[in-house]
Amino acid sequence: MARWWRGSVGYEVYVRSFADTDGDGIGDLPGVRQRLGHLAELGVDVVWLTPFMPSPQADHGYDVADYLDVDPVYGSLADLDALLADAHQLGMKVICDLVPNHTSNQHRWFLDARRSRQARHRNWYVWRDPAPGGGPPNNWVSHFGGPAWTFDEHTGQYYMHLFLPEQPDLNWAEPEVRAAFAQILETWFCRGVDGVRIDVAHSLVEDSGFRDNPVLDPPPDDDRHGSISTFEHFQHAHDLDQDGVLEIYRDWHRIAARHDAVLLGEVYLLDPARLARYLEGDALHQSFCFAALRASWDARDIRATLRPYVEASGDALAWPLSSHDDPHAATRFGGGDRGARRQLAYLTLLCGLPGSPFLYQGDELGLDDAELPDTVAEDPIARRNPGTHGRDPQRTPMPWQPGPGVGFTTGTPWLPVGTNRTDERTVAAQTGVPGSHLERTRRLLLSRRRLPALTDGSPIRWLPSPDPVVAIERGGQVVVALNVGDEPARLPVGHPVAIAYATDDDVRVDAQTLVLPADAAAIVQRLPAPASSG
Ligand code: GLC
Repeated sequence: MARWWRGSVGYEVYVRSFADTDGDGIGDLPGVRQRLGHLAELGVDVVWLTPFMPSPQADHGYDVADYLDVDPVYGSLADLDALLADAHQLGMKVICDLVPNHTSNQHRWFLDARRSRQARHRNWYVWRDPAPGGGPPNNWVSHFGGPAWTFDEHTGQYYMHLFLPEQPDLNWAEPEVRAAFAQILETWFCRGVDGVRIDVAHSLVEDSGFRDNPVLDPPPDDDRHGSISTFEHFQHAHDLDQDGVLEIYRDWHRIAARHDAVLLGEVYLLDPARLARYLEGDALHQSFCFAALRASWDARDIRATLRPYVEASGDALAWPLSSHDDPHAATRFGGGDRGARRQLAYLTLLCGLPGSPFLYQGDELGLDDAELPDTVAEDPIARRNPGTHGRDPQRTPMPWQPGPGVGFTTGTPWLPVGTNRTDERTVAAQTGVPGSHLERTRRLLLSRRRLPALTDGSPIRWLPSPDPVVAIERGGQVVVALNVGDEPARLPVGHPVAIAYATDDDVRVDAQTLVLPADAAAIVQRLPAPASSG
């Protein structure tokens, strides 16, 4: 069967902040549906919708209270059906977020589980007695800070939660949990959903002995969420990436195969060999490569970061440019016009790699993270760490047009749009404007679609290049090159080429040398050798 997801272009829609049609300040499914045309014209193949299921919203939908319905705040099942039908009409696939590691503490399974030790769903969650001297059963901590255990007075045991106490972990050693999720997948796929993005796909299974995690000494300076991450201070030998998880995905693979659906994992592992295991032997079809969010603006670092993943997993990888959990790429690369320029150049490189580039909403505008008033703290990470904004700055409303609600809402947006937003960085201001970030992004995605070597899994070669340049060749036909330096750089390509795409009007080919201005990238195509005369 043709694997339609290979080489596709993905786009993450953070539903809550994409488009609001009923004026409550919160994005909804009808809003996504209305804006599908924007995505199709941009050149998107696969739309990922963040969780829209009923939820108390303790973690903005990543705390699911019913896996098979739509939260009224986001619309209805009928709205989802209409969205799916329109997307398919436009030639796009839609994948939904599946959160199998944990439920909401308001899910009926958990409400039952905490009633008594004999409850029908007790073993669907992870319960342990207190440690012999009292206190939590082991040293595991939550991703959001604090212990991974909360004591339940009523039944005298602790339950485990790798995220918030409102997100109790499911017990995947329980066969009924497996059966329940098989049913959930069947239901969504039968409804016409084209696949799932699996939340924290490297989690789910824990060490059966619940051994303590080794403490890292000294602690790493690498801290994903700012101040809180005691999580980063442990080696997660026993709570993450356990062998048993792959078995679950092999079961799901069989279900997905019956529906030609894709399993795309959020496998947040920064080790190419460990990540590759999820993509082998009929487990997941695709995984995000989160290392792509960590490379600095340095040619050696970009090469050293990406190459091992490409070698280990090739076109089964999805390359996020930004996400609802991480800063916008423009901000990561310095912010403002320069950050936006670099972001587009980096996206061009990602478009040259085997696999699927994945944009996050607003990336097509060159959007920066929003600057927010000090009082704003919607993200649980921000709430738990006064004085920080957590992930709120990347989750603000999508700016469709100038004006108070930025075309996102007629009401008051649930998160402010950001004091640094400008009229120029809106869809309305950039559409049809030659040289705008949006038009350049659209050209990039459409140019890539026309070059089979970039989408058909053709072999990749990392070309030797002068230091500030990263250059790759695909299928002996196409070269993609990025200059991260402050000065123009020259890359000899060894044969005649034509420019298929450039981030900058000043990119040129000089004899058989590609000339790239600072912070620019280009895709060039090999020209047939001239017929020899005589
Ligand atoms: C994933 C989601 C993130 C969420 C967490 C817990 O990392 O992307 O937004 O907070 O899982 O579900």
